[in-house]
Amino acid sequence: SAAEKGGYDYFMLKEIAEQPKAVADTLLGRIDLAGNLCLDEVRIPASVLREVSKVVIVACGTAYHAGMIAKYAIEHWTRIPCETELASEFRYRDPILDQRTLVIAISQSGETMDTLMALRHAREQGAKVLAICNTNGSTIPRESDAVLYTHAGPEVAVASTKAFLTQLVACYLVALYLGQVRGTKWGDEILSVIRELSEIATQVDQVLETMEPVRELARTLADKNTVLFLGRHVGYPVALEGALKLKELAYMHAEGFAAGELKHGPIALIEQDVPVVVVVPSPRGRSVLHDKIVSNIQEIRARGARTIVIAERGDEAVGPYADHLIEIPATPTLLQPLVATVPLQVFACELATARGNEVDQPRNLAKSVTVE
Ligand code: AGP
Repeated sequence: SAAEKGGYDYFMLKEIAEQPKAVADTLLGRIDLAGNLCLDEVRIPASVLREVSKVVIVACGTAYHAGMIAKYAIEHWTRIPCETELASEFRYRDPILDQRTLVIAISQSGETMDTLMALRHAREQGAKVLAICNTNGSTIPRESDAVLYTHAGPEVAVASTKAFLTQLVACYLVALYLGQVRGTKWGDEILSVIRELSEIATQVDQVLETMEPVRELARTLADKNTVLFLGRHVGYPVALEGALKLKELAYMHAEGFAAGELKHGPIALIEQDVPVVVVVPSPRGRSVLHDKIVSNIQEIRARGARTIVIAERGDEAVGPYADHLIEIPATPTLLQPLVATVPLQVFACELATARGNEVDQPRNLAKSVTVE
């Protein structure tokens, strides 16, 4: 009913708007006033976490994209090797797991069969499993050694939005916690990122307030056949997520690429007027990444692409090559997906509406996939 949708036309719009609160709720009580992480609810003793020799993340769809981003954070802050794998592929390739492997299973519903089968397999091999889940008491957390709940609240729209942002928050918390417990040389950076994470809900809110031009742009693209998405580093999974949202909702051909891969093939797809969304990392921080993507944007623009650039406010280098510039607030490099994904959700939702599609119930899809 209209009341359930809180005055929005679709659950998806309501859930997009709820993201600042969902993010804040997922952080609530997990960072104390001194900036220390309080994750006692993750009932895996610190002594066990110190011995972990490998982290393996398993998930499907949007949750898998959160897991891809988590890999960058975990390896950087903890120096533990981490791999992220589609749950449906993981089990069938005879993966190497033992008692020192920490498996993280990410799932909004907690009922995704592919993810459940992957975690069962991991536990049979003696690995410890931590679930990151949004649904209290669902099967995946019940069958795991420990659980960190995301507090997104019920997500009704088939296309995942607020669950994704809170999965990211949970992944960052786990990565920072592992880093703290193991005492890496990134201690100071970890403390400052924890502080920035406590501010992030406000920044997500700022993004939401500036989305009207994104909606206008989306409406002008309703008759396109293809939209491409490019990113590097954590912007790469963001590009994949933007493409997945567009496929699910607008039924358009959409593909995400690692920007560095362009010249290895996908650049052949660039032709006059094809919309290409580029997620640009902060010009501060790791500036190599930034310089590289600026030259990628130049390359595709020289071939006629219509560039839609998502960049940090004040990033002057990208302006001249952006046909459309979508500005996002400054964040630490690894946290950028929390603000960079939001315009892509709005973009996909608006394009779906412009094409006359049912936003909350896309064709052929179910909210939770309980078959393998
Ligand atoms: C997201 O928009 C999708 N509908 C889908 O990819 C989803 O993320 C995937 O099926 C995993 O679901 P889960 O998080 O409930 O396990």
